Amino acid sequence: MHAEPIFKKIKEEVRRELAAFKEEGITPGLAAIIATDNPPELLTAKKYVALKEADCREVGIYFEAHEICGYSPEDREKALLGLIEKLNLRDDITGILVQMPLPGFINRERLLEKINPMKDVDGLTPYNKGRMLSSYSLEEDLLPCTAVGIVQLLEYYRINPAGKDAVIVGRSDLVGRPLRILLEDRDATVTCLHRKTKNKYEKVAEGDLVVSAVGRPPELYREDSFRLTAELIKDGAVIVGVGGKRDPATGKMYFDVDVESVSEKASYVTPNIGGVGLMTRARLLKNLISATRRLAEQVKPY
Ligand SMILES: NC(=O)c1ccc[n+]([C@@H]2O[C@H](COP(=O)([O-])OP(=O)(O)OC[C@H]3O[C@@H](n4cnc5c(N)ncnc54)[C@H](OP(=O)(O)O)[C@@H]3O)[C@@H](O)[C@H]2O)c1
Repeated sequence: MHAEPIFKKIKEEVRRELAAFKEEGITPGLAAIIATDNPPELLTAKKYVALKEADCREVGIYFEAHEICGYSPEDREKALLGLIEKLNLRDDITGILVQMPLPGFINRERLLEKINPMKDVDGLTPYNKGRMLSSYSLEEDLLPCTAVGIVQLLEYYRINPAGKDAVIVGRSDLVGRPLRILLEDRDATVTCLHRKTKNKYEKVAEGDLVVSAVGRPPELYREDSFRLTAELIKDGAVIVGVGGKRDPATGKMYFDVDVESVSEKASYVTPNIGGVGLMTRARLLKNLISATRRLAEQVKPY
């Protein structure tokens, strides 16, 4: 399940929306905030932010990145909250995202709650999380990018979740939880697994659709490591790989899914490069367009 064709298609849509904005004098702008100074995490965060910046520049969207590192823990949280307040007030910034990971001493919820929900392009503020439990619009609401991206990738390949047993490994606010809702709303029967799940592998083996969003490869973790290989899955299962982790010593990436092995048994598999990551980036651009449109029209969602 290569995402390149749909990534291109979504970028074309975004370009068309930008052309319409131009005629109306509307200008979107994205601000990304990096807050970790742990070297391997900083490297990872910068790589993700660089990709987002490249996507924005390619289609002609203003982008700025802020690094809030090197303060004492209390001062860093204060600086982050102050920066979010300023970005909330700026008219040229229509989308704000806080790049994960964050240092453990930062109160993530308190930080996310500060973001104006109308500029919350990651869909992580309490208001936008609540939208998912209400009558949301997949197209227009600010919903978490990876979860929506996966659903759109399945749609593109005409894989209907209805009636399928879906197993999601991971239950984070970013991926597992929102995806659970989106798949249930499409009539799949969903099981979300986590570290304390009993008989994990038996549950994975029952999945018609298995999504792995863990990021703890056996090469880097002794405890709670996870890797999806052919022996763990059902014949003909659809496999979606989300997680991956970079070895801080070598820079090598290790992914949740052993694509070569699962390809022998699966009906569809996402590639580790050019799969879910592209869908996440595409949705971020779409969320930014939706946020910009609503801000311009002052259509308050609440
Ligand atoms: N490709 C993309 O666009 C994209 C986007 C977002 C994230 N990611 C990647 O996806 C991965 C997950 O990201 P995240 O933000 O969801 O991470 P996260 O917040 O750390 O969540 C990881 C989830 O995996 C569960 N888990 C950990 N070890 C497990 C195990 N051995 N068996 C079963 N479940 C286990 C955790 O369980 P507990 O809840 O019990 O701790 C948690 O629910 C990371 O590698 C991240 O880099 C990729």
